Amino acid sequence: MVHERTGSRANAVVGLQWGDEGKGKLVDLLASEFDAVVRYNGGANAGHSVVVGGERYALHLVPSGILSPDVLAVIGNGVVIDPHRLLEELRTLQDRGVDTSGMVISDRAHIVMPYHKAEDALREELLAPAADRGPEQTKRVVSAIGTTRRGIGPAYADKVHRATAIRIGDLLNRAVLASKLEMICSMKNAVFESLHPGEHESFDAVQLTDEMVKLGELLAPMISDTAYLLDDLRREGKSILFEGANATMLDVDHGTYPYVTSSNSSALGIGPGSGVPPQAVTKIIGVVKAYCTRVGGGPMPTELFDDVGDAIRQRGREFGTTTGRPRRVGWLDLVALKYAAMISGATELCITLLDVLSGEPELKLAVEYEMPSGRTARFIADGILLSDATPIYETMHGFSEDITGARSFDELPPNARAYIERIEAFVGVPVRTVSVGPDREQTIRR
Ligand code: IMP
Repeated sequence: MVHERTGSRANAVVGLQWGDEGKGKLVDLLASEFDAVVRYNGGANAGHSVVVGGERYALHLVPSGILSPDVLAVIGNGVVIDPHRLLEELRTLQDRGVDTSGMVISDRAHIVMPYHKAEDALREELLAPAADRGPEQTKRVVSAIGTTRRGIGPAYADKVHRATAIRIGDLLNRAVLASKLEMICSMKNAVFESLHPGEHESFDAVQLTDEMVKLGELLAPMISDTAYLLDDLRREGKSILFEGANATMLDVDHGTYPYVTSSNSSALGIGPGSGVPPQAVTKIIGVVKAYCTRVGGGPMPTELFDDVGDAIRQRGREFGTTTGRPRRVGWLDLVALKYAAMISGATELCITLLDVLSGEPELKLAVEYEMPSGRTARFIADGILLSDATPIYETMHGFSEDITGARSFDELPPNARAYIERIEAFVGVPVRTVSVGPDREQTIRR
């Protein structure tokens, strides 16, 4: 017997820069048109802020679809979950009157344990800039990643190590959990002790087992085999929206490695992170800021260190949703954007924060890089080599009008329209959505 899934629709929203492009707003806007919104990668390192009716919600683990009634909010197997944070986020939403009964969590998602956060912090300290660490370290090429210290990298590393990992499903089985944690804690404690003798936090397997079993009891009603759940939805002709976290340039395989996150945070992560096969996703909306930002370490060729950068940072409120860190700001990098659209297979673009550029007399767009080996229009997906790139800019006229009230493309000033059209032509992907402010209404569809 053949099982048809043809009536079903699966789309995705994915960031095409270094994160914080405004994906949360777009997902929230689209969510009510879908039956389920699915997170497939990352963890509490992500910060999606959504403004509904003037109220700002900051989401880290919970899919932005939670704010739309009757939409399933699914955390797929590719996500790494800090159960304390997840429960706290759900409680905060409930306290604000949000119905969270549509929340479903994969039994195969991995857990971020307390020792992962300690490992994340320790690694970052050990990798701290050479200047801070004395003469024996000054030859180091790779410095700290500038992680969110949410334990993301160590949790994914244990997932790949296999025997030292804990999955959501394990929380429901005390015997399995106790046995795994006994072995894991002795290994982790030995490593911490050897790296930081006498200073490390000691992890107690019995205590951790009790704590995790309690968390498992609270999460139990939400736990499910989400690969089957999503397949059932597809057979029923229901629609699914995948919500990318972090972004394409932070993808562990295709981003500015090693200055990346530890998951496939491009659209390429959808299959492994959800169990839905790649051909199911037919529309991929690439979200891109009208300029660039980055948090943490790693190269960003168009970074601005002047008053223009400061002004954009202030107007765009470019301070991290997750860590509060000021974001690095730069001109839009079309070389990187065209590459990211290719990797994530973007079928359309959504340009966000265009209003923030209002007031800049000229706008610059990077169209090539000058490298030690000559000019190139190709992105260099290597965080060490890319640090030698000098951007070659094209300059366009800016606009000074307040565009936050514009609701159609024609209402935008001619210079703003020309800027969008230049992006579209360079990347070769149509811009279908332009966001001119944080609220749902401040959105232009073309
Ligand atoms: P990690 O994901 O915490 O390991 O951090 C790795 C790098 O990715 C750091 O530079 C972080 O600042 C960055 N990063 C991770 N998630 C996000 C995000 O959602 N937005 C922006 N940057 C992120």
